[in-house]
Amino acid sequence: MCGIVGILGNEPVAGKLVDALKRLEYRGYDSSGVATIEEGQLDRRRAEGKLHNLETRLSNEPLRGRLGIGHTRWATHGAPTETNAHPHMTERVSIVHNGIIENFKQLRRELESEGAELVTDTDTEVIAHLVTREMDAGHDPAIAVLHTLRMLEGAFALAFIFKDHDDLMIAARQGSPLAVGFGDGEMYLGSDAIALAPFTDTITYLEDGDWAVLTRDGVAIRDSEGAAVDRPVQKSVASALMVDKGNHRHFMAKEIHEQPEVVGHTLASYIDFANLKVQMPDMPFDFASLQRISISACGTAYYAGLIAKYWFEKLARLPVEIDVASEFRYRNVPLEAGGLSLFISQSGETADTLAAMRYCREQEQHIASIVNVRESSIARDSDVVLPTLAGPEIGVASTKAFTCQLAVLACIAVSAARARGTMSEETEAEFVTALSEVPRHMSAILREEGLYDSLAHSLAKASDVLYLGRGVNYPVALEGALKLKEISYIHAEGYAAGELKHGPIALIDESVPVVVVAPRDEMFEKMVSNVQEAAARGGRIVFLSDAEESDVGCDVMTSLKIPQIHNFTTPLIYALPMQLIAYHTAVFMGTDVDQPRNLAKSVTVE
Ligand code: F6R
Repeated sequence: MCGIVGILGNEPVAGKLVDALKRLEYRGYDSSGVATIEEGQLDRRRAEGKLHNLETRLSNEPLRGRLGIGHTRWATHGAPTETNAHPHMTERVSIVHNGIIENFKQLRRELESEGAELVTDTDTEVIAHLVTREMDAGHDPAIAVLHTLRMLEGAFALAFIFKDHDDLMIAARQGSPLAVGFGDGEMYLGSDAIALAPFTDTITYLEDGDWAVLTRDGVAIRDSEGAAVDRPVQKSVASALMVDKGNHRHFMAKEIHEQPEVVGHTLASYIDFANLKVQMPDMPFDFASLQRISISACGTAYYAGLIAKYWFEKLARLPVEIDVASEFRYRNVPLEAGGLSLFISQSGETADTLAAMRYCREQEQHIASIVNVRESSIARDSDVVLPTLAGPEIGVASTKAFTCQLAVLACIAVSAARARGTMSEETEAEFVTALSEVPRHMSAILREEGLYDSLAHSLAKASDVLYLGRGVNYPVALEGALKLKEISYIHAEGYAAGELKHGPIALIDESVPVVVVAPRDEMFEKMVSNVQEAAARGGRIVFLSDAEESDVGCDVMTSLKIPQIHNFTTPLIYALPMQLIAYHTAVFMGTDVDQPRNLAKSVTVE
């Protein structure tokens, strides 16, 4: 789950490689490196930690080659040390890899028994040695790579450069994305089009099994059978503008504050506000005849799907089968042909979600996806793409992508309900009006941000925090707990409030804050009972509601007043306090908010 880049240029490429890697840091940021060829000789610089360490290294010990490869790593095999950082190298070849080689142990044993000396703990290093072995046997680089690819099991995007070859780079794709970019007498390679955006907007994507030979004059692509293939060349819409933080201290803060605008844009692309109707693009299926929907996603995107399950089932009387993609893909779920499978992903590159999608394709499902990155693998492999208009999300913790996913899902649920005759035109108008008010209510919450700052001071002292919600706001509680743990490293769990007495209540004492998501909806009175149960055990209640504190009937540590809104839109609005609580707690604790430890923005390995 790393980012890779390659440039065949006409001037020294190390600086450009680092620029491209900055755009790929969302894929991993625990170490990085570049390798170039200068006068036929391979040389590399690598550094542990963030990219600025590599930049410092390069300014002290520059590389001047005009052809090179670069890598930003999210460690899978071996600790994030300089030794394990890519590019990996032998006398003859240097390589960068994104993915996992599943049979690397066996290959390593074989190489070592033949006398090869492997010095890293990575799965990748074997590839460099296999290519070297093939070249030592007299094969040219392309044949050496082809023979090596046939030995590899697993997922990979690879780039190779070779000693004594100043105008040659070889790339290969199996399960991990890879884009080839065309320049003027220069060629580029990258894990995505965004990495290449400053250099070119003319892109072609390799397909699974493809391998490509790049020179400064162009690219020759072959499929897994060795046949020459033409892949479509497209104009990329990826923006060359490096996204910046504006006046905010972190990307996450900027992205939280963008929500009124981007959720508004997203809603506007699915709603005819003049006529108060949802307006979905043409779909190759009819909601009225669907028996059920299957939804797969990971992490925050999965919680968006879980919220949608409540909407689809309640509003459209349409059953939803939902699972995290990492489980779904191996469950061998029976699906009737012609059904609808829906995938939700910010990046559009999440390995498990992609695998779940391939399973559903085999089961003859209609494939619809809600994605933020329109040029992603998930978007490209879908029958229907329903984009979120969140714009680039850089902070690792998903915020604006989540609320934009909810906006799209809310529109689909209304559209499904109308198609199935379970919602009247008047109710559609009422719900659309409620959605149109979401950006305004979001702004109102953001204006009260100061309240979250003071709450953060008391949460920062906790070692465990519980989040409770009911009904459609139960997944909001799950999302709140995920946000807190991933950026503040405080242990947090979300529970359906009714489950409290079946176990988790044993955790509650005076040291445990309990964050309660309690809009005044049909679940409110039940929530109040659960809050009282938690308070009676000493739990320090953080009460989020449009109701008055006095309605709770027990002591609360903090009460955060949320605007009164339509019950349909509560998840979109209550998501913001969840984000603000996590953000301010993490800032107070001094963690790396935008790039929390051990995580990466895009999870392209299983
Ligand atoms: C949490 C978070 C992750 C992602 C998950 C899926 O804040 O961002 O849980 O939601 O890794 O990623 P996408 O949406 O890119 O498929």
